[in-house]
Amino acid sequence: MEQTHWHLIIVITIALSQNSSNVEGRAHFHKEHKGPSVYALSSQDPVSQSPAYSPVQSDTNEPGNSSSDCIFDVTSFGAIGDGSADDTAAFRAAWKAACDIESGVLLAPSNYIFMITSTIFSGPCKPGLVFQVDGVLMPPNGPDCWPKSDSNREWLVFYRLDQMTFTGTGTIEGNGEQWWELPCKPHRLIHFFMSSDLVVSGLRIQNSPQFHMKFDSCTGVLIEKLFISSPKLSPNTDGIHIEGTKHVGIYNSVIGNGDDCISIGPGCSNVDIDGVTCGPSHGISIGSLGVHNSQACVSNITVRNTMVKDSDNGVRIKTWQGGTGSVSGISFENIEMNNVRNCIIIDQYYCLTKACRNQTSAVYLTDVSYRNIKGTYDVHSPPIHFACSDTVPCTNITMSEVELLPHEGELVDDPFCWNSYGIQETLTIPPIDCLQDGEPDSLAEVSTYGC
Ligand SMILES: *[C@@H]1O[C@H](CO)[C@@H](O)[C@H](O)[C@H]1NC(C)=O
Ligand SMILES: *[C@@H]1O[C@H](CO)[C@@H](O)[C@H](O)[C@H]1NC(C)=O
Ligand SMILES: *[C@@H]1O[C@H](CO)[C@@H](O)[C@H](O)[C@H]1NC(C)=O
Ligand SMILES: *[C@@H]1O[C@H](CO)[C@@H](O)[C@H](O)[C@H]1NC(C)=O
Ligand SMILES: *[C@@H]1O[C@H](CO)[C@@H](O)[C@H](O)[C@H]1NC(C)=O
Repeated sequence: MEQTHWHLIIVITIALSQNSSNVEGRAHFHKEHKGPSVYALSSQDPVSQSPAYSPVQSDTNEPGNSSSDCIFDVTSFGAIGDGSADDTAAFRAAWKAACDIESGVLLAPSNYIFMITSTIFSGPCKPGLVFQVDGVLMPPNGPDCWPKSDSNREWLVFYRLDQMTFTGTGTIEGNGEQWWELPCKPHRLIHFFMSSDLVVSGLRIQNSPQFHMKFDSCTGVLIEKLFISSPKLSPNTDGIHIEGTKHVGIYNSVIGNGDDCISIGPGCSNVDIDGVTCGPSHGISIGSLGVHNSQACVSNITVRNTMVKDSDNGVRIKTWQGGTGSVSGISFENIEMNNVRNCIIIDQYYCLTKACRNQTSAVYLTDVSYRNIKGTYDVHSPPIHFACSDTVPCTNITMSEVELLPHEGELVDDPFCWNSYGIQETLTIPPIDCLQDGEPDSLAEVSTYGC
């Protein structure tokens, strides 16, 4: 199966390269693609230069139908690309043209710096649309240049799209620096909303004013080979945030920023994360969940073959007091920690103000496994911390081959557990005697709260 794909890819690559079009985003979902199996296409090889999704030519593109028919270069629509001219109108026009044909490509070519203001790129469009940035694409630089009439919540919005690819060899420069110092929360950089079968690959995305990428209410997302970067002290600059989003693969990406590397909000399921390097960051987070007594359902999340370095947390699940719902089927496996505070943490008392009351309901956590998690922790906090809710215990936590050593100095506090039940398949280092065997008596009352 793999073999066949590779042959196909090579044939196509040769076919394409005979005409010196440098458009690499010819990839789109094959029509015979069954269901939301995007993650099946992930590459296990982080150094591979080939796109891991299968670039299959559309049936309508016969040889002789020049591929340039479907390429809409923004410079042909009047974009200047000198880093100061406003190229928004050109991008909108190129988008409209590319959107209207099958497998259309909006191309922002290399060697240009395009500046566009806050824009909603909305569908529906014909399938196979590619938004390809080979140059630099950026928003106006700072609050003084931001048009007053523009949304200050987000910059690029992709809305109601199906089978779209956002790719290229270029850079999305967020120009976040002047926003970080402000007390207000500025805009997110890129927001995908109510869309399906998306591919985001290859790009460098940096210096976002707030979250770099947010996926909200989407189905079928493949994220690959991204390089996301903001300074360690830039506030709220989460790398990739998903919520209400199902069937997600995040592979072979490098993320360093000032907040969560990847955050998984309520309503997410079937998320597979593999081959990610995080740091500096606040680690990979599930949550926060259950804010304002809301229901949160998160299930079937796998994080594998990942490294977290110089970060405030490693792998974290955080919920507020008073929520309902459940987090279940969570697997953290083959994770290397390097100088990380709170390597493994469950915090069911998450609170931003320190004034949150304990409440009787809580999001229920169950079937969470930690396997082969090794490396070093920053001794400022215990490497393992399970603070489960008073009323709703965490159950079926599995620990296997968890070995964490001080990065420097000696551990002062022992691992902490509160109301947490599970098993240790091997001896955990440092030992966690506080994890309780079996199941709590009160478990009968606990359900998945309707998830
Ligand atoms: C490549 O495309 C250009 C214009 O689209 C055409 O003139 C040229 O003949 C093509 N070359 C090949 C090798 O097909
Ligand atoms: C080229 O392909 C497009 C679809 O990608 C199709 O709409 C168009 O009719 C084709 N043109 C020719 C000359 O075959
Ligand atoms: C869990 O998610 C993976 C993808 O990450 C998927 O292949 C698998 O079928 C899902 N399992 C269930 C029980 O839905
Ligand atoms: C909430 O409960 C936890 C665990 O029993 C306890 O440590 C904490 O002090 C309580 N917080 C408040 C505000 O009562
Ligand atoms: C405990 O969780 C694991 C997954 O981590 C699951 O395979 C197993 O069935 C669960 N055990 C029980 C008793 O629910």
